[in-house]
Amino acid sequence: MRILTGLQPSGILHIGNYFGAIKPILDLQGRGEVFLFLADLHALTSLTDANALRENVRAAAVDLLACGLDPERTTMWRQSDVAYHAELMWILSTVTPMGLMERMVAYKEKTQRGISSNVGLFTYPILQAADILAYEADRVPVGKDQKQHLEATRDIAIKINEAFGEGTLKLPEAQIAEDVAVVPGLDGQKMSKSYGNTIDIFMPEKALRKRVMQIVTDSTPLEDPKDPDASTIVALYRLFATAEQVQQMKDEFRAGGVGYGHFKQRLFEAIWEFYAPMRQRREEILARPGYVDEVLAEGARRAREVAGPVVERVWKAVGLR
Ligand code: ADP
Ligand code: TRP
Repeated sequence: MRILTGLQPSGILHIGNYFGAIKPILDLQGRGEVFLFLADLHALTSLTDANALRENVRAAAVDLLACGLDPERTTMWRQSDVAYHAELMWILSTVTPMGLMERMVAYKEKTQRGISSNVGLFTYPILQAADILAYEADRVPVGKDQKQHLEATRDIAIKINEAFGEGTLKLPEAQIAEDVAVVPGLDGQKMSKSYGNTIDIFMPEKALRKRVMQIVTDSTPLEDPKDPDASTIVALYRLFATAEQVQQMKDEFRAGGVGYGHFKQRLFEAIWEFYAPMRQRREEILARPGYVDEVLAEGARRAREVAGPVVERVWKAVGLR
């Protein structure tokens, strides 16, 4: 079973990325062949700072290794290192109906959020389809927000197969992490780099505490009962604490007499402890210059080996060869 996913290196990794993408895929290491790439071509649709892009790719690679990515078992590469992604995208774009792209909500959401529209942002899902189809991925673990892009990937593969022959491309399955589907950010909306509401996983202690204290709460007085089900604090705490600890916090919410600041402190401690072993590993990786570049170079080599024959098959099927 080949499992593939992409991460946009458009910023530092946050808790949403961790539970929505990284943890599910790292948990699959050993159960299948894991392919994980850093989607720098996608990041270009909303990032115009060259140094930031370069650095973000490296930082994401370091963080993934720190989180437990094992380069012996998992192929990790930089999207732009493998030209097949962009090459296949062009072919896919020639069968993709305009109407399919026009229905993509991520594009609308991004432009409504103020990201300036460009054709790359609009055709982003076609590049994503190429990322997946070039590797004949069986499973694509992503957050709920990516479900529509996965459906579009299947639609595009079906179009190719209808036009150029069944079996030209293989249809992937999405794998949505239902229980942690959308991790909320500080403001209670989806945690996202583009919304500035993130809690980054390797923040220094002080910064992390400050960030957690910024979680938006209502003005319920300290002594009054509070609604745990409406609270971002509880929603995040769930990810780091045991079921009993969560129940305890919920009971204290309902009982009243405890302020939000106290709950936030408890959440901060849980996050800090959870990431302690990964922080340690990260320090070790940072102390080995050149290591990350080696991992990425070897990953790109293995990725080309897999995508090359698939893309060449498509070239032949469509008549480019
Ligand atoms: P961002 O929205 O911060 O730019 P990306 O678009 O780079 O994050 O997302 C990378 C991966 O992390 C994707 O698979 C996405 O579904 C997942 N992801 C991002 N934010 C969240 C979230 N808040 N909850 C769950 N998964 C998320
Ligand atoms: N669009 C995905 C996101 O924003 C990142 C991505 C790019 C991706 N290509 C992919 C995810 C291929 C899975 C498969 O999260």
